[in-house]
Amino acid sequence: MKNILGIWDGHDAGAALMIDGQLVCAANEERFTRRKLEVGFPHHAIRACLTQARLSPEEIHCVAGCTTDPAKTLSRLWPASQERYYRLRRRLASPSPLDPLTRLAKYHLTEWPGNRLTRWLSTRALHTQLASLGLDHCPLTLLDHHLCHAATAAHGLGQDNTLILTLDGVGDGRAGSLYHFQSGRLMPLASIAARDSAAIFFEQVTTLLHLRELEDEGKVMALADYAVPIPDADNPLLDLIQVDHLTLRARCHAGGLARQLKKIFWHHPQESFAAMAQRALEHWVLTLIRNAIRSTGIHRLALAGGLFANVRLNGQIRMLPEVSDCFIFPHMGDGGLAVGAACLAAPPQTPLLTDLHLGPESTPAELEQAVRDSGLPFRRLENPALESARLLTQGKIIGWFQGRMEYGPRALGGRSVLARPDRNDLRDALNLRLKKRAWYQPFCPSMLDSEAARLLADHHGAPNRFMTSLYHLRPEFQTALAGVMGRGGSCRPQMVADDASTPFAALLQAMQQLTGFGVVLNTSFNPHGAPLVNTPAQALEAFRAMGLDHLVLGNWCVDPAPDQTNEV
Ligand SMILES: [Fe+2]
Repeated sequence: MKNILGIWDGHDAGAALMIDGQLVCAANEERFTRRKLEVGFPHHAIRACLTQARLSPEEIHCVAGCTTDPAKTLSRLWPASQERYYRLRRRLASPSPLDPLTRLAKYHLTEWPGNRLTRWLSTRALHTQLASLGLDHCPLTLLDHHLCHAATAAHGLGQDNTLILTLDGVGDGRAGSLYHFQSGRLMPLASIAARDSAAIFFEQVTTLLHLRELEDEGKVMALADYAVPIPDADNPLLDLIQVDHLTLRARCHAGGLARQLKKIFWHHPQESFAAMAQRALEHWVLTLIRNAIRSTGIHRLALAGGLFANVRLNGQIRMLPEVSDCFIFPHMGDGGLAVGAACLAAPPQTPLLTDLHLGPESTPAELEQAVRDSGLPFRRLENPALESARLLTQGKIIGWFQGRMEYGPRALGGRSVLARPDRNDLRDALNLRLKKRAWYQPFCPSMLDSEAARLLADHHGAPNRFMTSLYHLRPEFQTALAGVMGRGGSCRPQMVADDASTPFAALLQAMQQLTGFGVVLNTSFNPHGAPLVNTPAQALEAFRAMGLDHLVLGNWCVDPAPDQTNEV
């Protein structure tokens, strides 16, 4: 038996545990510290993985991590610098007059790849952290950042003869990579240098729009939908990066790019600028993928890296005539690196991902205790799926807490807030009052596979289990699903097998019986700005803070205190 612990100690830190090639547990530090996209060493996530698998630290055979570039190494040696950037980025600290200079220095520093000294320093710093958890006996392997992203995509899909493309901000001196996955091996085809990063371009656009980099890029994508169409001839952003066969070339360094973007932004409304940036991004990535397919003759794609959080881009890739299959690793950003590192340390022989409910879970006794301790009215449900579906059909918004917590950025029916999918008033209440999101951010549907085939106009190929791509509703169903639809009939569905034996599948089946549509609005169960809830106590706290109508935990339904009944 081989027990491998993967770790990532940067933006969205986390841990993953593989036992004999099976991914048995994976979680991110934010869920434990309650700071979204937590940075730093993942102490809590590692402990959670060990607890879930009932392993002691002595039973771990190897620890695998990644990224030894100078910027990452400095943050390991000087965690206060990382914390300062985290607080500034999340608007928890005010900028100082030196921040523009620091930012420029950061862009330069992050472009350098690792060397023997930074590898040695990183290894020492990580060993100290591992020793505090009783893991100092383990050999530590440190791997390349983009190779780890590539491993998540390759092993997540687990099919031979696949083109693997990674694109993200920067890591170990690279902003992207292209591999051919064959016989369990990743063979390099091309690299994209850090200075040519398309993700840094999009990050800078996000900052210029006064949104938070590394967090609000999805808002830029959503805002782009509200622009008047702009012809390519009038979009100067397209010229900032060139596609050079299998790589990208930026016209100038990140500092120069920022100045150019600022000049261009001055002449355009926000939504137009967002649309121009989205179009430029799509143009570069689609061209790159077309070139790669033409060059290799391989039509199956697997993608990873933070840039592929952009579901509109993913939808365009999926619909390219040259692409036969397109898999996107669902925890595509740096939060998924721990899985990649573990995969490279001991490559799995079978596809890694069938289910993303890889986090901690509570026992029935713990759920009952939490409900009793809450001081809120509660009742036991004989059939939680059916009774929850009845509440939803009555227009109630419910918190839904079942089984193990999801791994990755999306709620997939383990820690979700649910509503019926047809009502704009429920959508607006959820957006503006309960979750305090921007009005233009659409909500996503979860639907049975059979419904996906019926409702979606552009669904071909394998079902999308993890909400990683944009689809379009057939016109005749757009009114019935108005609450989960973006502009132009778009939606980002989670598809659930009709015959799945989970409580969430049972809920969708009950919705189908009651409403004729096996669909719910599904959004993450977290108060504004906080990570997804992890424990029953956090779920109860979020239930109160968000003012939901009901909370269904396992077989229990909790209602608001009598003086706090919420009317939408
Ligand atoms: Fe990355």
